[in-house]
Parts: sequence; structure tokens; C-alpha cells
Amino acid sequence: MSENTSDLMLSTAHLTMKFGGLTAVSDLNLEIRKNEIVGLIGPNGAGKTTAFNVITGMYYPTEGKVLFKGRNITGLKPHSITALGIARTFQNIRLFKEMSVLENVLVACHMSINTGIFGATLHLPGYRSRESEARRFSMELLEKVGLVHLAYEKGTSLPYGQQRRLEIVRALATKPKILLLDEPAAGMNPQESRELMDFIRKIRDEFDLTIFLIEHHMQVVMGVCEHMYVLDYGVTIAHGDPASIQKNPKVIEAYLGVD
Ligand SMILES: Nc1ncnc2c1ncn2[C@@H]1O[C@H](COP(=O)(O)OP(=O)(O)OP(=O)(O)O)[C@@H](O)[C@H]1O
Ligand SMILES: [Mg+2]
Repeated sequence: MSENTSDLMLSTAHLTMKFGGLTAVSDLNLEIRKNEIVGLIGPNGAGKTTAFNVITGMYYPTEGKVLFKGRNITGLKPHSITALGIARTFQNIRLFKEMSVLENVLVACHMSINTGIFGATLHLPGYRSRESEARRFSMELLEKVGLVHLAYEKGTSLPYGQQRRLEIVRALATKPKILLLDEPAAGMNPQESRELMDFIRKIRDEFDLTIFLIEHHMQVVMGVCEHMYVLDYGVTIAHGDPASIQKNPKVIEAYLGVD
């Protein structure tokens, strides 16, 4: 971990999210630096997804701030946050059922390329060149992540593990600086989970990314994260490198009776 504050990508200060009487996230203070892979772990209902939802603008926090490269982004709309370079995937796969792999990526591309409704309706030359640029960019992305041979297959017909990767590619299509992954290994066996962690490391290097990763099972992220935050009932019960987390009594207690 660097001591330099200038490479801070994403941070939160006293971030708190309450739903009525329930405090889903309580006084969360994150510090995620450029090119790090950072974990957010904790038992079911710990507040992990809620933290993502607040960071990405789906909820306005009850208290506290979200900062991206030192800029206060609290309260910005999700599309503005995406445009700044923060992309996410969801806990449940959200591919478009009838679309090919390529089309699924193209849709994500269009969310970031501002084609404008008039250009799209009138098929103006500007629209057409942007459209072919988007196709070229999408195919290039699929090539880089080893899915290009599946470009014309239906997205939802891919094996489960590939669908999870495609979700990540869709997030990459918005050209993020930081990628937030919500349980990308959910439903995978140990072997597939390990391969996915290798894949995450690979895209971090290839796309010069910073990665913030939610995982339910501690073992899955141990090998890939530089450091991790552990939530339990919304409270940060531990933060540190994988070795220290693994032997932290509070963490062990939180996980006992869960797994
Ligand atoms: N929109 C909402 N309204 C009310 N309560 C909510 C809402 N979203 C989440 N919660 C509650 O906040 C708590 C944290 O939920 P969250 O989904 O963030 O947990 P999680 O750590 O992602 O769990 P999991 O590992 O099961 O995905 C839970 O008690 C949940 O029921
Ligand atoms: Mg969750």
C-alpha cells in the first residue's frame, strides 16, 4: 500500500446508509488506490451491495461522502458516475436474453457513447461512423478477453462462467478507471473461481484498472486482493492484508456459523 494520497482513486468518508431503523452501512471509510485490487467481504446481509449502491449513485447516503480521485461525487446520478469512469456489475446476471454476445457489449457501449437521439433516428453519417466504431471497439474488447469466437452466440446460451465474464466485459465497454464487481464468482465451483480471479488480475493489468470486489467467500479473494475490508451488520470489523484478515478473531467470529 502506498502512503501517497495523490493516487487515491475511490474513497468514502463516514459513509452511512440507513433504511428506516436498519443501518445497512455504518461509518464506512474506504481508501482504494490506483491499480489496486481491493476486497469487500462479509456474511450475507453485511451491507456489501448497499455500499456499492451508494457509491454508484443508486442511493443517496444518510451520512458521509463518496470521493472519486478526491472529487466529491456524492449525490451524482448513476449515469454521471459511470461517465466519470466508475463501472459495476451486479450480483445477479443482467444480460439481455435475446441478444448476441456482441450486441450485449454494444448496448453497454452505447450507454457511454453519446450518439444522441436525433442522430440515431435519422441515421446521420455521424451516427453510422460512431456505430461502426462501437462495433470495432466491442470486437476488440471481446478479442482481448478471449470471448471473440462467441461474438454471435446468444449471450444467455453461454456457460454460466462465461456469462459472468461477459458481464465484466459489458462493464469494460464503458471505459472505466475503476471496476466494482459484486460477487463475480457467485455460483462458481472452486476451480472456476480461481480462474476468474486470474482473469480479474489480467484485466487489471491489460486495462490499467483499479478493482473493488465483493465476495462472500473469504477464500476466493485471498489470493487476488492486496487488502480487504470486512463488513458485518454494516460495521467495518476489520481492514488489512489477506493474512491479517484470515487470523483476525472478529472476522473468524463473524464467519462462524455462517459458512
Ligand atoms: N432498498 C432496501 N430497503 C431496505 N432494506 C435494504 C435495502 N437494501 C438492502 N437492505 C437491507 O440492508 C442489509 C444489507 O443488505 P445488502 O444487500 O447490502 O447485503 P450484502 O452484504 O450484499 O448481502 P449478500 O451477501 O446476501 O449479497 C440487509 O439487511 C438488507 O435486507
Ligand atoms: Mg450483496
